[in-house]
Amino acid sequence: MTAYAHDRVTVSSGGRGGPQKGLLRFLTCGSVDDGKSTLIGRLLYDTKLILEDQLAALKRDSRKHGTAGDDIDFALLVDGLEAEREQGITIDVAYRFFSTPRRAFIVADTPGHEQYTRNMATGASNSQAAVILIDARKGVLTQTRRHSYICSLLGIRHVVLAVNKIDLVDFSGERFHHIVGDYLGFAQALSFSSITPIPVSARYGDNVTTRSQRMCWYDGPTLIEHLEGLDASEGLDVKPFRFPVQWVNRPNLDFRGFSGTVASGAVRAGDRVVVAASGRETHVARIVTADGDLPEAHAGDAVTLTLSDEVDVARGDMLAEPQARPEVVDQFAAQVLWMIEEPMLPGRSYLMRIGTKFVPARVTSLKHKTDVNTLEHIAAKTLGLNEIGLCNLSTATPVAFDPYSENRETGSFVLIDRFTNATAGAGMIAFGLRRATNIHRQALLVDKTARTRLNGHRPAILWFTGLSGSGKSTIANIVERELHAHGAHTYMLDGDNVRHGLNRDLGFTDADRVENIRRVGEVARLFVDAGAIVLCSFISPFRAERRMVRELVDEGEFIEIHVDTPLEICKQRDPKGLYARALEGKIKNFTGIDSPYETPESPEIVVDTGEGSAEDAAARIVAALRARQIIA
Ligand code: ADX
Repeated sequence: MTAYAHDRVTVSSGGRGGPQKGLLRFLTCGSVDDGKSTLIGRLLYDTKLILEDQLAALKRDSRKHGTAGDDIDFALLVDGLEAEREQGITIDVAYRFFSTPRRAFIVADTPGHEQYTRNMATGASNSQAAVILIDARKGVLTQTRRHSYICSLLGIRHVVLAVNKIDLVDFSGERFHHIVGDYLGFAQALSFSSITPIPVSARYGDNVTTRSQRMCWYDGPTLIEHLEGLDASEGLDVKPFRFPVQWVNRPNLDFRGFSGTVASGAVRAGDRVVVAASGRETHVARIVTADGDLPEAHAGDAVTLTLSDEVDVARGDMLAEPQARPEVVDQFAAQVLWMIEEPMLPGRSYLMRIGTKFVPARVTSLKHKTDVNTLEHIAAKTLGLNEIGLCNLSTATPVAFDPYSENRETGSFVLIDRFTNATAGAGMIAFGLRRATNIHRQALLVDKTARTRLNGHRPAILWFTGLSGSGKSTIANIVERELHAHGAHTYMLDGDNVRHGLNRDLGFTDADRVENIRRVGEVARLFVDAGAIVLCSFISPFRAERRMVRELVDEGEFIEIHVDTPLEICKQRDPKGLYARALEGKIKNFTGIDSPYETPESPEIVVDTGEGSAEDAAARIVAALRARQIIA
C-alpha cells in the first residue's frame, strides 16, 4: 500500500498530447448528495460529450429545476437515471463513455445505497479504478467505508478520493487534509495499491478537468490528469499463462483444437502446457485464428490451440504453464456476495460457473458475514440479498483457480440457482482448502452389484415428501411391512426419529432443513450402496434438496412419493397437536403455516390420503415398485 503523501503523488504531469494510454474503466462511488451526478455531468461536459441541443435544454432546465442558480446543473444530466432507479426501473449499472486526446474512459455509474450493493459490485468487478466521492462538509461516512470495502473486495487496486464540494468549505486545505487522514486510517486495512486524494468542486469544475486557482495549497493533479496517467493495468499479460477451454473444436478427424480466450499470460507455439486438472503435459502445436496462425497469443486474445499430443481435454478444463500451475481443489474459501432475494443456504446445491467450467457446488459453511458498514465479522447461518460473507465451498469435481488477489480472471466465480438460472451469488476465491486431500477412497471387494445379487431385489430410496400430518410415516410403515414380508432388505429413516439422534442439533429454519436433508441423503445413499431399500419420510419442503438426494444415487434408484394431502385435512387431523400450536404462534417456522412447502414437480408417485386409505396408498406404491422391477 502506498502511504499517502500529498507531495509524493507521482502521476501524470498533466501535459495534454502525451502518449495515448489504453482504455480506463473506472467506477464512481457515492450518492447523488455527494455530487456524483454532477461530477459525471461535469466530465461529460468538459470533454465535450454533451451535444449542443442537450446543452441548450440543460441550461433551460437548470434555471427551472436546478439547484445551481444561473449555472448549469450538471446533475440534471444524469439524474434521470437515478430517479428511474429509485422507482425500481432497475438499471443495473449505467456505463458512460467519454474520451480525452490522451485516453478513452468507461465510467460505471452505480447507485450508492446499501440495497444496491450487488449493482455496485457488478460495476466494480469490471473496473480498474474507483473514484470515491466525499462531501467535504460531511467527511468520511459509513457509506464511504462500505464503498471502499466493496471496491477492495472486488479487486480494485487504485482509488481516487475525490473530496468534493470543497468550495463549500472555503477551499480549506486543513479540512481536506483532515478528511484524507481519516480515510487513510481506515483504508490501511484494505489492499489498495494507490490512494490519490484530490480536492474538487464538481459544480464549478475546480480540479476536475482544469486546475483550480483557488487552492494554492494543492499542487497535485486534476482528476482527469490523474485518470489519464493512471497505470491500472493488472499485469494480466505478465501473469502465468491460463487458458480456460471454452469448447473443443473438432470440425473433422484431422483437426482437434481448443478454443477460448487467454485469461492471463501469453503462449507461443512450441510452449509446454499442462492440463491443470489431470496434470498431463504437452506442447502447443499451433495457435489458430480466423485470420491465420499466430506465433503467440496474449491475455484477452481469442484463439484456438492445437496440441502436439492426443491428450484428454474437455470444455471447462484449463491449460496452464507447467512451472506456475493453478491450484486444483474441490474445497476452498471465498468471499461470496449474495445477489438474490432467496437467501444463500449452506448445504444447498448451486451451479458454479468458474471460468468456462460449470460444476455443482455447495457452501459447506458460512464462516461469518461482514457488516459492510463497519467491516465487523458477524456470526450467521445464511446470507441475504446484498450481504457478503466468507464461505467454505465444495465442488462436485476439482476446479482449477488462482486466488482472486492474484488473478481476477481465474479467481472469481458465480453461483447459479439451479431452478431459476438466476445469478445468485458472486464469489472471489481466497484460498484452497486441503482438508480432504489425504483421504482417498478405499476400493472395496464387495460392491453394490454383489450385494444386490445376494439380496434378490434392487436397492432404492423411497422418498416420502409432504406436509406434517399428511400420512407419510403411516404409509411408509405399511410399505416397509409389505416389503419385509416379501423378503426385501429395508430400513426406515423417519424425520421425527432421525431428529432424536443424528440430527438432534437441527431445528426448523430453512438452513437447518437443508442440512437435515443433506445428512439424511448421504445416509440414504449408504443404504442404497448396501443394497437395501430405504424408506425416507421427511417433509423435505424444498425442491432443491429433494433433487440433491436424487442426484446422489443412480438413475431409477430415487423414487419420489408425494403424499399430497391438502393442508386443510392435515390441520384437521393434527395428530400431534402441532398445527394448533403453530397457529397460536407457539411454534415458529411451521411448514404450511409460516414456512413454505414446494410441491414436487414430477414425482414418480403421488398419493392423496384424503381420497383413499393408507393401506390403499401403500398397495399402490408396492405395485409401482413391482412395475419398476425394484422387487420381483
Ligand atoms: S424437514 O422439513 O426438515 O424435512 P422433518 O420431516 O425432518 O422436517 O421433521 C418434521 C417433523 O418435525 C414434523 O412431522 C413434526 O412432527 C415436527 N416439527 C416440529 N416443529 C416443526 C416445524 N416448525 N415445522 C415442521 N415440522 C415440525
